[in-house]
Amino acid sequence: MSRRKLIAGNWKMNKTAAEGVALIKEIKAQFTECGSSKCCANAPEILVCPPFTTLAAVLAEAQGCSCMKVGAQNVHWAEKGAFTGEISAAMLKEMGIEYVLTGHSERRQYFGETDESVNQRTKAALSAGLSVIICVGETETERNKQVTNAVLERQVRWGLSDITAEQMKNIVIAYEPVWAIGTGKTASDADAQAAHAFIRNLLKQMFSCPCVADNTRLLYGGSMNAANAAGLLAQADIDGGLIGGAALKAADFATIIRAAM
Ligand code: PGA
Repeated sequence: MSRRKLIAGNWKMNKTAAEGVALIKEIKAQFTECGSSKCCANAPEILVCPPFTTLAAVLAEAQGCSCMKVGAQNVHWAEKGAFTGEISAAMLKEMGIEYVLTGHSERRQYFGETDESVNQRTKAALSAGLSVIICVGETETERNKQVTNAVLERQVRWGLSDITAEQMKNIVIAYEPVWAIGTGKTASDADAQAAHAFIRNLLKQMFSCPCVADNTRLLYGGSMNAANAAGLLAQADIDGGLIGGAALKAADFATIIRAAM
């Protein structure tokens, strides 16, 4: 069984539209397979997730490259209504957006995201035809208390509740230990692999068809960079990366993409 690798950049609250276009142009220039005749033949799927206001401009720029997708960083669960400041799945879909992140630890930490709202957002996105990257991961305190697996199990089971095996074709899970995000600390290759294997095993228990565990892509996130990507991406259960800081530098992001080839 082969899972196509996915290298995803989470730009967070960085890059105006003009800056985003400049960055995506630079990434394409670094990554010469884009737009050439052998466009993306053996490349991983490449995803960039800019802020909402930068999506349209980046999408227009990314369209010449068939392996390059654009995603949003959040979505609301309701179809429409009085939810000031929120964006619906249909609004994203209408633009041509293909992916959305749910449950990023910064949303959980700063914006009151819960396992339940992550699940609601995920289901709304799936219903609108978007693919979803659900983010899970333990905090440093939880890791020190040795409850990492219990936290991952709770987040994965809740996040995926009511989601069918068929819908799982459009789900990616990102394991992002919170203590590694933006800190320069990375999980060791072995620790990251162990967490990914735990999640894959959980999928085996949750879905009767082994196809779900076998086919679902699991990404590592948390200070992945040009220097450590190859080691992490070589692990059996790591199918790509969700990259923050290093995705803002075209050369680093391109190096990570190449490490996945
Ligand atoms: P980082 O962020 O690569 O800057 O640690 C990863 C993320 O938050 O998705």
